[in-house]
Amino acid sequence: MKGIVFTEFIELMETKFGADLAEQVIMDSNLPSGGAYTSVGTYSHDEIVALVITLSQKTGIEISDLIQAFGTHLLKRFSILFPEFFSEVPVVTDFLSNVDDYIHGEVLKLYPDATLPDLDTSIKENGDIELLYKSDRMMGDLAEGLIVGAIDHFGQTHTYHREDLNQEGGAQCIRFIVTAR
Ligand code: HEM
Repeated sequence: MKGIVFTEFIELMETKFGADLAEQVIMDSNLPSGGAYTSVGTYSHDEIVALVITLSQKTGIEISDLIQAFGTHLLKRFSILFPEFFSEVPVVTDFLSNVDDYIHGEVLKLYPDATLPDLDTSIKENGDIELLYKSDRMMGDLAEGLIVGAIDHFGQTHTYHREDLNQEGGAQCIRFIVTAR
């Protein structure tokens, strides 16, 4: 997983829970990298999982809630770091329909070793958008948080619905519908 995900996670952990607790979480997670991340490095996905599990143990907050909150924060950070992906589209549904082909496509050009999810998107006749998330990294809660962050960012009245589907070949599969109503 790309270092930018780790540097943003640690920054959020420090802001929300303080530098001391963040330090403890890093020390207690037994990280092969030692926890000294750079935004352009690449680290094992297991390390982010270990960090979230330790943070959950120390704060008593559910793992899924932590990952979702992180996703929402990450979207806010992406809007600052990559403003071009946001300025070209007027509504959240247009933004979301760009993620799979265009945005994650550009991410792959920037970081050829990035591991991104399958995110099949289709716009319905009524303007709703369906996103089918599929990934063996099981980061559906992160996807949910990113979607919440995107809805917040565009400041419209959209709502979303999440439906967890059966796993396929060990991959987590989720259907998200984002609707203007
Ligand atoms: C400007 C917007 C976005 C940017 C720049 C971006 C970029 C990235 C980057 C850099 C990664 C890490 C890849 C790696 O570590 O190897 C990632 C992973 C991911 N992205 Fe995006 N992303 C954006 C929007 C979204 C949105 C809106 C969704 C929600 C549907 C999404 C879903 C995910 C998920 C769930 C992962 C984790 C990997 C996995 O589940 O397999 N992204 N993205």
